[in-house]
Amino acid sequence: TYVVTDNCIRCKYMDCVEVCPVDCFYEGENMLVIHPDECIDCGVCEPECPADAIKPDTEPGLDKWLQLNTEYSAKWPNISQKKEPPADHKEWDGVENKLENHFS
Ligand code: SF4
Ligand code: F3S
Repeated sequence: TYVVTDNCIRCKYMDCVEVCPVDCFYEGENMLVIHPDECIDCGVCEPECPADAIKPDTEPGLDKWLQLNTEYSAKWPNISQKKEPPADHKEWDGVENKLENHFS
């Protein structure tokens, strides 16, 4: 599966939603996550994310993100159409450790 990671938080471009063939993105207030059981590993979303936030979970060190994507995709609503990103989203691109400080 692919997972959404830290740099999505408060960037939330949502370009990923438009390209996913199985609509497996779920929307929280400040980020999106992928449902690991629904993702078919096509990889199309990875290069579409302007924040470079989407990674294959085969990359090392992503356990925490796989857990987070699993947990919140079960709680948050599905999103299948791109919406307007937050007004200040570009200012958040590249800010470090957003999970600890800015997730909610
Ligand atoms: Fe959707 Fe493919 Fe990305 Fe998985 S890898 S979330 S199926 S676009
Ligand atoms: Fe987030 Fe990138 Fe999608 S910033 S909403 S994973 S396009």
